[in-house]
Formats: sequence, structure tokens, C-alpha cells
Amino acid sequence: MTATKIAPQEPLLEMDFNHVMAENLPPEIGLTLPEIKALGPALKQAHQALMQARKDGLLPFYDLPFQTRELRSVRRAAEEIRRKAENLVVFGIGGSALGTAALFQALAPLNHNLLESSQRRFPRLFVADNVDPESITALLDFVDPRRTVFNIISKSGATTETMSQFMIVYDRLRKSLGRSSIREHLILTTDPEKGFLRALAKREGYPVLEVPPQVGGRYSVLTAVGLLPLAVAGINVSELLKGAAAAAETCTKANFKKNPAYLFAALAYALNTRRGRPILVMMPYSSALSSLADWFCQLWAESLGKLKSTDGRTVRAGQTPIRAVGATDQHSQLQLYMEGPQDKVIVFLKPKTYRVDLRIPQVFKDYDQVNYLSGHSLGELMAMEQASTARAVARAGQPNMTLTLPRITPAAMGYFMYMLETATVASGHLYQVNALDQPGVELSKNYTYGLMGRPGYQNYMDEFRAGPRPKKKYIL
Ligand code: PA5
Repeated sequence: MTATKIAPQEPLLEMDFNHVMAENLPPEIGLTLPEIKALGPALKQAHQALMQARKDGLLPFYDLPFQTRELRSVRRAAEEIRRKAENLVVFGIGGSALGTAALFQALAPLNHNLLESSQRRFPRLFVADNVDPESITALLDFVDPRRTVFNIISKSGATTETMSQFMIVYDRLRKSLGRSSIREHLILTTDPEKGFLRALAKREGYPVLEVPPQVGGRYSVLTAVGLLPLAVAGINVSELLKGAAAAAETCTKANFKKNPAYLFAALAYALNTRRGRPILVMMPYSSALSSLADWFCQLWAESLGKLKSTDGRTVRAGQTPIRAVGATDQHSQLQLYMEGPQDKVIVFLKPKTYRVDLRIPQVFKDYDQVNYLSGHSLGELMAMEQASTARAVARAGQPNMTLTLPRITPAAMGYFMYMLETATVASGHLYQVNALDQPGVELSKNYTYGLMGRPGYQNYMDEFRAGPRPKKKYIL
């Protein structure tokens, strides 16, 4: 990887945390400056440890914005897919799907997949991250296999859900197009050395892209995992990486007052551990950003939700992330945020300007109940609703911050996602947990392997079947 320095022309993110501070909240709820400053030494230690790990090659996600060779391979593969396909279907789950889905929703026209091919310059993109037979059937019935490429994404190359999807589609391709044509309709994204997918790609000569070994799934959106499908769908991935490169400058500053990632981590951590705020609501005021909140929820939950600290103590760390979308959820969850338990911190996310806007016309002049809306725009209404909600929840005693992107652009998204990834690993240090592993998901996987008959997992099937054996069955 070679380094390119990017000087951002305008700030790609503004963080307003007035509504976290004691001056603007009931005093026992808000944080004081001395309290935030007191986290300085812990953040300094976190910074040193992170920079050392980066140097030692243990956190390569830090350097993804500067990749050049990988980007060339992605571009070549994307061009070929665009030339031959009408649809790209991604099969993947968790970190192998959520980032792509978030960026596609944020950056492609919201009606991209609905447009006729004559109105669309790039293939449709579908991210299928579940094994629900109904949704997979509907998708496979919709796409014409002759005009479709399937991108099977699995770092481990063995994930049950992704492999099941793959096996179904492989069989369909073989039956409908013949074995020799399968190669034309597949591209695999996986570990450079290990796993079933890699072995298969080698044996059959299938096109394949790499996920760098030390980049964990939820930190992999800026690898081929996200870049290939996004490039196929016409997203400007160079700009995305430029934005991330700008974040790589600010988010590696040692001084947390100048580093949005460390500040975000510090505020969320302090509110959780010092003010009893175990829930973090991510609430974008934009339909295009709702999947971004899903991506964040996985990053925050899977990275920080840990039983053990790095030195083996039982800590049960973490902060439960929740997705809400403005203005929709003002009519769904806001009542709870206002009057329910005071256990949340709310992170509002908004673009300063919407990419298009709609003026509300004057059509009912004689009716005061609605005429006041005339002349305003929907963008203005969204902005006013967000500001009103932020003030209202602060008055109700719920700390909140407002993160503003100048506009929803590839650069702003690259910056924002990189910032949150850095905030997550820094939070790992504050909580003293490993933000890169996910030991808690193993047991359920092992039961599934056992129940599905995977060799070597018989004991899990036996244990599962034995169950807790209640005398009474508590089933209605
Ligand atoms: O963030 C993670 O590490 C996980 O969510 C993984 O991305 C997910 O389990 C899929 O793993 P894989 O890419 O190996 O199929």
C-alpha cells in the first residue's frame, strides 16, 4: 500500500455535542468538561496501543484508504462485470454485507434498482444477507442468470448462510447455463490463502478478490468486500477512499480534542459508564442513511459487547445500539425517548443539505392548519424536525449529539465510516475489551452445525437435543 495525502477542502463532518454537556442538561445527567478531560490519559494510552498495533500490521483497516494495487484489481473486475451483467447479486452476511448495503443505499439513486436498463448506466445491485427461503426465492426468480453475476463474499470462506446461498445458486447456474459457464457468473471475495472458497477458486479457476487477513468483517467495507459491488453499481470508490484518507489524518491525532473518533468514543463511554446510558440510538434524518445505522449497530454491538476484558476479568461490556430514522421514528420511538427510562444517548446524523429538495406549494390558502407549510421545503422540514427533536430530548434529560455531513457524498461517507471504525477500536481500549473478535457468536453457530449434521459437531446436536429438559414444557 502506498500513502497519498489528501487535504480536504471542507470539513466532512461536524460534531455538535452541546446536548451532552452539563450546562444544557439537568446537572446530574450532563457531562462536565473536567470529567471528559479526565479520560485524556486513558485515550492517550489507547492511542499509543492502536498506533503500535497499526505499525505491527495488526490493524490494517487503518491503511485501507491508501491501497492502490487492490483498487486496480477491483476496478478491472468491476469493468468486466459492468460490461456483461445486468445484475450483481452479493451473497454475504454481517460484515460481508452491511457496509455495502449501507453505501449503496446512501450513494446510488434511491430508485436505482427500479429503473429500466436504458435509464440506468450501471447494473442493479442486490445484497442478500439472509437465508430466508422466501426472499432468496424471490430474488433468484427475478434475476435472469444469463445476465447476472454472483459475488460470494466470505472472509472465512465457510459461513453457513453464505455457503448455503452459494450452493443453491451454483446448482442453478450449472443446470440452466452448464458447468463450463459458471465461471462467467461468479466472483468470489475471500481470504488470500485459507478456506473452502479460496480452495474452490484455485481448483476451478474462478475469479477471486482478496480480503486482507487481518481485516475483520465489520472493518472490511473499504476492501474488495465493499469496493467491488459499489464500483459495479457506479459509486465513485476513489472519492470514498479519499474521504476515508481524510479521516485517517484527523482520526489518528493523539489529542482527543482534535480527533472526532476519540471524542465520540470518550463521550459514549462516559455516558454509558458514568451516567448509566447503556443504550445508544443512531438516528439519521435521511432515508438514504437508514442502512448506515444498521452497519453502525453491528460494528458497535459485535465489537464492544464482550463478557471478558482483555486481561480475563468478567466485565459484560458494551452499549446496545438501536437504529431509528428521522422523521419516521418521531411517530414511533420518540415517546419512549422522551418519557421512558433515562438510559439512552441519542446520536442524530444529518446532511447539511439534501441532494435534492422539494418545495411545499401553496395549495390550501384558506386553511391555517396547513397553509403555514407553504413555501417551506421538505429539506427544511427535516432539518427543523431534527433540531426540534434534539432540543426536546435534551429537555427531557436524554443526552444527544448531532453529527452533520455537508452532503451525502462518497467522500463524506468514507470519512464517517472510517471515523466510526476508529471510534470503535478506541472504545475497545476504554472498555478494555477486544474490539476485533466475536467469541459470543460461536455457541449458536456450533448448535446450528450440530443440527445441520456437520461432521465433528455431533456433541452440540446431542447437547442441544438434551436441552434444559423442563418437567413442564413452557410453550403455549
Ligand atoms: O464482523 C464480522 O466479523 C462478522 O460479522 C462477519 O463478517 C460475518 O460473520 C461473516 O463472516 P465471513 O465473511 O467469514 O463469512
